[in-house]
Amino acid sequence: MFSNSHHNMKNEYISLTVDNLGRIDFTQPLLQRRSLWRVWMSLSRLQKNLIRLIVLVLILSIWLSISYSKSQPHKRKPLSFNNAQSNENEPLQAPHREDSFNQGDDDRSNQLDNANLVDTNPNQEVQNELEKPNNNIEPAHPQPIYFPKPSNARQRAVVDAFKHAWSSYKKYAWGQDMLKPISKSAHKWFGLGLTLVDSLDTLWIMGLKDEFNDASNWVRDEFRLSLETSTADVNLFEVTIRVLGGLLSAYHFSGNDLFVGKALDIGEALLPCFEKSPSGIPYSDVNLASHIPHAPRWSPDSSTAEVTTLQLEFRDLTRVTKLKKFEEASSRVSELVHSLDKIDGLVPIYINPFTGKFKDNSEIKLGARGDSYYEYLLKQWIQTGKTKQFLKDDYLESVAGIQKHLVRRTPNRDLLFVGELGAGPREHKKFNPKMDHLVCFLPGTLALGHHHGMPESHLTLAHQLLDTCYYMYADQPTFLSPEIAYFNTENSKGADLYVHTNDAHYLLRPEFVESLFVMHQLTGNVTYQEWGWKIFQSIEKYCKTPNGYTSIGNVLDDRNVRPLDSMESFFLSETLKYLYLLLADDPKLLDLDKYVLNSEAHPLPILKN
Ligand SMILES: *[C@@H]1O[C@H](CO)[C@@H](O)[C@H](O)[C@H]1NC(C)=O
Repeated sequence: MFSNSHHNMKNEYISLTVDNLGRIDFTQPLLQRRSLWRVWMSLSRLQKNLIRLIVLVLILSIWLSISYSKSQPHKRKPLSFNNAQSNENEPLQAPHREDSFNQGDDDRSNQLDNANLVDTNPNQEVQNELEKPNNNIEPAHPQPIYFPKPSNARQRAVVDAFKHAWSSYKKYAWGQDMLKPISKSAHKWFGLGLTLVDSLDTLWIMGLKDEFNDASNWVRDEFRLSLETSTADVNLFEVTIRVLGGLLSAYHFSGNDLFVGKALDIGEALLPCFEKSPSGIPYSDVNLASHIPHAPRWSPDSSTAEVTTLQLEFRDLTRVTKLKKFEEASSRVSELVHSLDKIDGLVPIYINPFTGKFKDNSEIKLGARGDSYYEYLLKQWIQTGKTKQFLKDDYLESVAGIQKHLVRRTPNRDLLFVGELGAGPREHKKFNPKMDHLVCFLPGTLALGHHHGMPESHLTLAHQLLDTCYYMYADQPTFLSPEIAYFNTENSKGADLYVHTNDAHYLLRPEFVESLFVMHQLTGNVTYQEWGWKIFQSIEKYCKTPNGYTSIGNVLDDRNVRPLDSMESFFLSETLKYLYLLLADDPKLLDLDKYVLNSEAHPLPILKN
């Protein structure tokens, strides 16, 4: 599909012809026109000179941009070892990369030229540039962006917490995916140094320079997609939001091209999920060694939220590398999902990569596997300067669908919550009064939408849902939220909000403090800072261990929280970052009019289109 679309572009480009008044006509195909020579002869001398001038300028600019691309390869097309390989199906092995790094400068530039040729036809690239003005795809911030020092004691406390987590990770799990703080060991998931890559931009924002440099050196020397270091099978969505997102934000803040090269490696490795799918809906997993994508072992389907939570990152990758294929592949998914039949804008949580259709009898929810579909409708619309109308339309329709089908209130305390529609045929989905802590991202998203012109009712819903999320914390003796809460909808004698013991764990999740950060920046209500600070203190009290922070198994008993021996990478990437930003004296320390944050709290620049 990619070669086809390139082909079309080429045709459009060469159909530039001149009509008999000397006006340049971009629309009509060349072959149907009068012979060029006769047109030329009928022109006045002034018209001829004008055309000669235009041709000269075109040739000059093509020549300039080709020689520029040879002399500044890092800026335009960062070094990628994947691309430099001659055989795409060859397993990615460390020696290839080491060889390339150890060669002299001359060899390296040869490698880069080869990489250019493998990547994309240079003429094609020149064409693309002529088609689109440069400012669309230039990196937004080639210069480093520096953040001010912590502005108060609370922010400093969050930095201390981060340093404690970081030093323990460094001591016991350096370069591994996750720290296990109780057993002082590491947990391997994808073998991609998840915690380290996920933490880069938080380190930068907090001004932890030495730690950032340490981590950057690891990325430069050790981050690789090889069989030895990475588990061959990885999840497209998780790697996109954590690794690709993390590398891109690190690039935008630091301006260091190193991160673009690594982001490109990851993007290339993940792309087969889209390219090898018959429908364009990506497979959920890919083998990093063989580049063969596949569905999860337990199902033929992909999660709807997973396939629709890739677009911010892949679009940004296209913006910084100028390689269109990333944005094209991921945008196509949005367009396909847009064209599918929904229930008042609400989507079933599974979708099939073979057929490109929803699994219609799967659940509908704003929690796991549904959540970030809605988030990325809005955020993609914002990221592209509000130029893609269908994203806004789908978002508006879905919020109306949430209000119509999923919002309920409890009888005593009048708590508003967002429930789920269970599995079953379209018209017979049963309402389930259950809300994942994950849903607490929604108040922030709704408030952000309202900030960008969505209806007042969205902000009202945001406020009421935020209050309920607050009680998910405040009702517990630990002041920490369970993973899942249930709500009473009928019986005025029962408790309004209750927790099953199986769902009583707290995994250091960020969604509520994420919403607090967004709503504090947009409303200025300082109550949100107080709430965030209380949660931070609870984390200090119940989750801090001598060697980092741990998820806990039971928020219902403050004398026995049952440490789970796991520090998720999103604790450093999201929870502590959002707390740090929330507690700053300057609510716009990270300006939401300039950045859109991906689902893992990695800021990416907003452009005009
Ligand atoms: C701030 O938010 C809290 C919690 O929702 C609310 O009770 C309070 O009225 C708000 N304050 C202002 C000034 O809006």
